[in-house]
Amino acid sequence: MYGFGTMIEQLKKNPKTIVFTEGTDPRILEAASRLLASSFLHPILVGNEEDVLKAAEEAGYNIRGAQIIDSNHYDRFDEMVERFCEIRKNKGMTPEEARKVLAQPNYFGTMLVEMGVADSLLGGATYSTADTVRPALQIIKTKPGHSIVSSCFILVRPGATGENEVLAMGDCAININPTEDELVEIAGETAECAKIFGVDPKIAFLSYSTLGSGKGPDVEKMRNAANKAKAKYPSLPIEGELQFDAAVSPRVARTKCPGSTVAGHANTFIFPDINSGNLGYKIAQRMGNFEAYGPILLGLNAPINDLSRGCNAIEVYSMAIITAALV
Ligand SMILES: CC(C)(COP(=O)(O)OP(=O)(O)OC[C@H]1O[C@@H](n2cnc3c(N)ncnc32)[C@H](O)[C@@H]1OP(=O)(O)O)[C@@H](O)C(=O)NCCC(=O)NCCS
Repeated sequence: MYGFGTMIEQLKKNPKTIVFTEGTDPRILEAASRLLASSFLHPILVGNEEDVLKAAEEAGYNIRGAQIIDSNHYDRFDEMVERFCEIRKNKGMTPEEARKVLAQPNYFGTMLVEMGVADSLLGGATYSTADTVRPALQIIKTKPGHSIVSSCFILVRPGATGENEVLAMGDCAININPTEDELVEIAGETAECAKIFGVDPKIAFLSYSTLGSGKGPDVEKMRNAANKAKAKYPSLPIEGELQFDAAVSPRVARTKCPGSTVAGHANTFIFPDINSGNLGYKIAQRMGNFEAYGPILLGLNAPINDLSRGCNAIEVYSMAIITAALV
């Protein structure tokens, strides 16, 4: 597995900065103090300086050396307002409206990345996914050549042979009901992300049907998406539509789709929609004892990631490293 050790080594050679939009949250402060104890990833905490320092002191974390930026006292705020109005000019954004929007830490922090003040951003300890992701979609936008931002989770648990078992699942967090073409893009991006974590992707387009055993528009959507993905990524092993048991169990795969190189051995799962994806990764996490890292945003023009509101400081620390290592 391309683990945290490798990511940290990479960051040590080329240190980065990361914005935390929730500068007074104790979990953020704990992760920031841990990052400050080494020097490969420098935290920038958004918030009122006095409030952030007080919160750190109360929680007992040493954040000496952290950069704290307050939108109310930011010397480049006028420049930021102007830049934001330019980016949102098609929406008729006025400077007065922009000032109000940019007073919000999620928008302010995202603009710090856009302006190159920071390399990356991690938010969502208290914001919902939508409130963390929306500023990124509006300001940072999709990478050239991409039509959507999507996401994947990387799931890790110790394997029977001593090596970690690593899986990738997409899109469990952003696109509510992706089209066939969007599923193709999600599969390509999820496979690329899986490779970063040491997975040799074998991609299953999941459904309640295996190669025509069931009928319905959702089955057709996954079958068509799998076929389009096979044509677009001829070097990637792809199968679909597959039920989950046919995707992961060699015994079931022998019966339901003999001859497939993916069925029975899939490690990269493409879900039909956000309902199935979100449920799928959480079932693996809560009942399959997998650690879940993500959602890792894919196709975005800069590394910005979202935390679960139920996260702990260790998860914040891990996601900060993953986010910055993707710069
Ligand atoms: C991601 C999400 C927040 C975007 O929806 P939204 O806030 O309603 O956004 P809008 O449709 O108003 O779009 C806002 C902007 O983002 C863009 N956008 C929306 N979805 C996008 C996507 N998947 N990729 C790229 N851009 C996207 C829109 O084009 C729009 O751009 P514009 O303002 O420059 O025109 C929404 O799809 C969502 O809520 N997804 C589920 C999140 C969630 O609850 N996850 C579960 C917990 S992990």
